[in-house]
Amino acid sequence: MARKSNSHEEVPKQLENSDGTDVTIRRMEPGDQDKMLSFASRLPEEDLLFLRTDITDKQVVKQWAENIKNGQTVTLLAEVNGEIAAYASVHLEQARWTRRIGEIRINGGQRFRGRGLGRRLTAEIFELARTLGLKKLTAMMTPDQVAARAAFERLGFRVEAVLADWVEDRGGHVRDMLVMTHDLEGFTDQVVAHN
Ligand SMILES: CC(C)(COP(=O)(O)OP(=O)(O)OC[C@H]1O[C@@H](n2cnc3c(N)ncnc32)[C@H](O)[C@@H]1OP(=O)(O)O)[C@@H](O)C(=O)NCCC(=O)NCCS
Repeated sequence: MARKSNSHEEVPKQLENSDGTDVTIRRMEPGDQDKMLSFASRLPEEDLLFLRTDITDKQVVKQWAENIKNGQTVTLLAEVNGEIAAYASVHLEQARWTRRIGEIRINGGQRFRGRGLGRRLTAEIFELARTLGLKKLTAMMTPDQVAARAAFERLGFRVEAVLADWVEDRGGHVRDMLVMTHDLEGFTDQVVAHN
């Protein structure tokens, strides 16, 4: 994906997608709630099944906007013709001992997938996370999300843990949770067992 303007550090950015369409990457603002609800309403049921929070719910998106206002969440939007094509968020941990860990959540509209938007947004989130002083990013999904796992592996994440029965999906089914991580600064995450 070619960059059309601005240096790496700045958003908004104008980019050209691999299919030639113009993409704008910018921070989500509290005023983007209706646009986000409209994006969520276009997601197919199989995607909604696995969302960490139900972003088709107005109250959930309102809380998201509150989290943006108070700095607990930073979200980047990729827009095509003024419509949200994809977003990526980093959610910051409040507890002191995990304050260097951020959780990435990323979602692309179906017709915009496989065109480099996920990679682009992830690169921007990595940059942002570093400026926020984060050392490690986590991504949570279920083992059923085979495509998302493959994409995250291509983006430099690896499976760090599988938590049994941690998820109850939108349909009420219990599933395991896959915790994938990416170290931002060559930060070691090797577990050394001490007897
Ligand atoms: C995961 C997701 C964000 C990827 O977005 P995308 O715009 O399609 O990603 P890109 O086109 O930038 O691809 C990124 C890399 O993943 C790979 N990839 C993408 N989709 C893939 C798939 N279905 N299977 C295998 N690899 C895949 C690409 O080949 C690319 O690697 P490369 O650049 O080394 O070739 C998108 O599939 C999505 O929104 N999934 C549903 C939401 C979700 O499950 N999110 C994860 C939980 S936070």
